[in-house]
Amino acid sequence: MNLNSLTVKWVEFGTREYYQTLAIRNQVLRKPLNLQFNRDNLLVDKEDLHLGVFNQTECVACLIISRIDDTKTAKMRQVAVSEYYQGQGIGKLMVIEAERRLKAQNFIEIQLHARENAIPFYLTLGYTLVGDWFTEVGIPHKKMIKPL
Ligand SMILES: CC(C)(COP(=O)(O)OP(=O)(O)OC[C@H]1O[C@@H](n2cnc3c(N)ncnc32)[C@H](O)[C@@H]1OP(=O)(O)O)[C@@H](O)C(=O)NCCC(=O)NCCS
Repeated sequence: MNLNSLTVKWVEFGTREYYQTLAIRNQVLRKPLNLQFNRDNLLVDKEDLHLGVFNQTECVACLIISRIDDTKTAKMRQVAVSEYYQGQGIGKLMVIEAERRLKAQNFIEIQLHARENAIPFYLTLGYTLVGDWFTEVGIPHKKMIKPL
């Protein structure tokens, strides 16, 4: 697959493209845990930045950036690449774009809660592990951070 054939794009909350990213989040992050989003889950999305990766017809990957209170620290969450597209550089492409945008907006740090399977991915991208395991959505996570 040629990464140049994909469009990497910040999308507005509530648009058709936003709902396409939501479908990927459901498929990749929620369904395997027998979970799905409810209205309250989505209310928090309203204030956030949404990045999507699209092929000709559909969304294939997404991530979300939340601002932590009024600080210049951001939280990266809901990082998901559709199964068929995993391992081809799309996750890395999205994280680099998120870091570029946050740096341009003078953010100083990104934090995230990594699932166990995703820790090697974030280590490759320069994120550092912080603290002990904790449980979110019923599975183990570790906090990771990266200064910008
Ligand atoms: C984790 C995930 C986002 C990574 O995205 P991806 O597109 O598959 O990863 P990429 O192909 O961009 O990989 C980027 C780098 O990380 C490395 N990497 C990715 N997954 C890895 C793994 N499981 N183990 C070791 N290295 C890994 C790649 O080798 C690559 O290294 P390189 O740049 O030196 O070649 C994606 O696989 C995914 O959506 N997984 C399921 C959902 C999930 O766990 N999301 C994270 C929630 S915290």
